[in-house]
Amino acid sequence: MTGKFITFEGGDGVGKTTQVTLLADALKTLGLKVKITREPGGNMVGEKIRCLMKSSSPSAMDPLCEALLMFAARRDHWVKLIKPLMDEGYFVICDRFYDSSLVYQGVLKKVPFEDIMALKKITIGDFEPDLTIILDVCSDVSIERLSGRKLILDEYDLLKKNEHDIIRKGFQKTAEIFSSRSVVVDAAGSEQKIFAKIMKIVQKRLLD
Ligand code: TYD
Repeated sequence: MTGKFITFEGGDGVGKTTQVTLLADALKTLGLKVKITREPGGNMVGEKIRCLMKSSSPSAMDPLCEALLMFAARRDHWVKLIKPLMDEGYFVICDRFYDSSLVYQGVLKKVPFEDIMALKKITIGDFEPDLTIILDVCSDVSIERLSGRKLILDEYDLLKKNEHDIIRKGFQKTAEIFSSRSVVVDAAGSEQKIFAKIMKIVQKRLLD
């Protein structure tokens, strides 16, 4: 594989989507081939699984079933989109990847860590992102950003403050576990300030 795989992680409302777009634009201006994608989603199977997940109340779905669906979507996404693009030399930027399964289905919904890692091994083997940016912000800020952003909030958006805190801690933990590929970025402050920090990290880790 010649391309690079960059993932963005963090709780709901931390501003991942904005930063994904800013990074993609910056890399394109450097003349690099760039593709933005997301999970669950990114291709036909993934987007259908995303719809299924978003249309059925998350609290109604068995957590292990949810994890299986996330990894089914991920397997297809990886085989059909991520790997081929990387083989062509693309910088693939993904809004969420398997750290989200470790946090949402694992830490929040209590599917054991080993079970999630077993699903990871079966579906994508030893594949890992080249870089994971974890956007970290206190739950009051993410809740405020969410309420200002959307007219219709889904059940994940309506997570209670303590659940936002659990998710935040969960991502801090994945950053520790996967420390060689993860960087936690303080996501309070202006979009441009946050982006400047991210660009510095990408420059140092992947472009120098
Ligand atoms: P998100 O990507 O934040 O998009 P939106 O802008 O529509 O809110 O939402 C996707 C939701 O899916 C998010 O709440 C986290 C959840 N999710 C999981 O529970 N497990 C996973 O493995 C992934 C990738 C996402």
